[in-house]
Amino acid sequence: MREGGDAPGPSLWPIGFAIGVACLLVGLVISWIVAAIGAALAIAFGLLWAREVTREVRGEVPEIEPETRAVADEAAPLSGDGAAPLPLYTRSRFLEATTIGLGAAIGAVVTLPVLGFMVLPSFTHISEHDVDLGPLDNFPEGEFVIATFLENPSIGEVSRRTAFVRYNGPDSSNQPSFTILYSRCVHLGCPVQPNGPIDEKAKQQFRNVELRPVLAQSFGCPCHGGQYNSEGNRTAGPPVRSMDRFEYSIKNGHLVLGSLYAVGNVTGNGAAAKITKYPWSSPGTHVNGIEAWLYPIVPSQVTGG
Ligand code: FES
Repeated sequence: MREGGDAPGPSLWPIGFAIGVACLLVGLVISWIVAAIGAALAIAFGLLWAREVTREVRGEVPEIEPETRAVADEAAPLSGDGAAPLPLYTRSRFLEATTIGLGAAIGAVVTLPVLGFMVLPSFTHISEHDVDLGPLDNFPEGEFVIATFLENPSIGEVSRRTAFVRYNGPDSSNQPSFTILYSRCVHLGCPVQPNGPIDEKAKQQFRNVELRPVLAQSFGCPCHGGQYNSEGNRTAGPPVRSMDRFEYSIKNGHLVLGSLYAVGNVTGNGAAAKITKYPWSSPGTHVNGIEAWLYPIVPSQVTGG
């Protein structure tokens, strides 16, 4: 029995369990070490909580004597001094229920946003389509060509994209090497522009792809002054990483764009460049360094921004 002065105080195990679950969920997003600590906390506090809750069940079962009742000569009064006492909720039971409810509320407040950030991107992901940019001859070695195309012609102009494509010559395995930068600024998503004149007279059209050579070896963003070099590395301004790039393949002598990926940094140039690749992430998201650990998720990731 928990009534009276011997009743134990409210338990803190549910709160510890909720904190452990929250750590586990956050850790699944940012770091396996945090996830492991969260799992250990959740298991430890969960066991302690279960042990406490089942204490009465696990206790020795007292011998129960047959119930006997004296037959009253007259009906017992329903009220007044002789009335049977009504069952009451004791203070300790109230505090126990409050503690459990508070722990559940804290757990929900912490875990629901994390679950939302984990699950929603699956529903906001925009499918990508391979895009044929035409014959390799369209891309002179060492020069950038602005390629403007519809990523998904079935949805029209809303899928129009721009990439800066440079043929680097053959790589170490004698395969054609390309640098293909996505024009979307990795600060807040404005359209990055080449820092040089566009040769409109040399413009070409391949199906719905427009190709315009440009005399530029760096790029700038008109919104907040972000600057990138010829490999897409940030050289000035607020962008948080290097320019995103497209995967590519060569099919039947044509250059075909694949998926986007994020870039932490590029060392070296052209065909010899060493690229730190990451899964594509929305503008404003750090993909490497301490910032990626401190800011694992930004709101624009769940809005497709
Ligand atoms: S959006 Fe490009 S610098 Fe801000």
